Amino acid sequence: MEPVKVGICGLGTVGSGSFNILRKNAEEITRRVGRSIVIEQVGARRDNDACDTTGIKVTRDIFDVANNPDIDIVLELIGGTSVAKELVLTAIENGKHVVTANKALIAEHGNELFARAREKGVMIAFEAAVAGGIPIIKSLREGLSANRIEWLAGIINGTGNFILSEMSEKGRDFDDVLAEAQALGYAEADPTFDIEGIDAAHKLTILASIAFGIPLQFEKTYTEGISRITAEDVAFADDLGYAVKHLGMARRSKTGIELRVHPTLISHKHLLANVNGVMNAVMVKGDAVGPTLTYGAGAGGLPTGSSVVADVIDVARTLTADPHNRVPHLAFQADALSDTNV
Ligand code: HSE
Repeated sequence: MEPVKVGICGLGTVGSGSFNILRKNAEEITRRVGRSIVIEQVGARRDNDACDTTGIKVTRDIFDVANNPDIDIVLELIGGTSVAKELVLTAIENGKHVVTANKALIAEHGNELFARAREKGVMIAFEAAVAGGIPIIKSLREGLSANRIEWLAGIINGTGNFILSEMSEKGRDFDDVLAEAQALGYAEADPTFDIEGIDAAHKLTILASIAFGIPLQFEKTYTEGISRITAEDVAFADDLGYAVKHLGMARRSKTGIELRVHPTLISHKHLLANVNGVMNAVMVKGDAVGPTLTYGAGAGGLPTGSSVVADVIDVARTLTADPHNRVPHLAFQADALSDTNV
């Protein structure tokens, strides 16, 4: 059987992590899918020493990838919203499936992109857009799909949690830890997104859409970051028995679904208070299952690449299945969304 051909756009932290996982675990992945997955082309503005692209076509123009007739799946790993949106729309128009780690793109333009993808009969997968390596999208869509979700709450920004943890454990200065998070590849290109809660709001918007079956409504999410929290605040809270954590929360209220991200005091005894460093954790309460917790690295090339490649595998499996048995792997059944207000 012909291999599934992937084109990777972007060779930054997540792009290089995904590239290296696809190559290193190629044999294992082939066994799981029943068909090999090959990197046909890479589009990146510059090379990345972490990736050996010998034998792979490399272009400086990412649109070459979206227009390459040999490619089945385009990986959008460039970030940002304007060029990324154009790239994804080009791939969709060309009948290609898309895997993305771009939470801003999905939260702000997902309704439009998914509608177009449905019209063209292609898939958009975005596990890596929320909580790095934690399979929370798959968990909500598959493992918890029997439940009426009552609420979800989680630590969904690795950079922010790393900053708060280092301030608490080592009394370090905010700016110093932020610089380290940037050097480690955890932070967004514009770290304002991390420290002002925008990144967490993007992710919460996506989670809530899936959990509650509502359209993506980023602009209605109450958003507050951690930029005004000082080492003193963290130390006082600690003395009183609380950790300061930046949480994203979504829950049903009488008037609709309430979405908010902001710093929160959590008792040291609570599980979420003990999620430290770059780790993320998401609690979901379903009416049948009760509370659940998923935990893992929320940022970084390999953890996020793990989610990207899992989506590539999902799409490849769907493409490999008997066409009559294919389950459309689109994000939302747009015509089945409730119009519940946020
Ligand atoms: N900047 C993001 C974070 C990357 O720190 O969580 C992963 O989405």
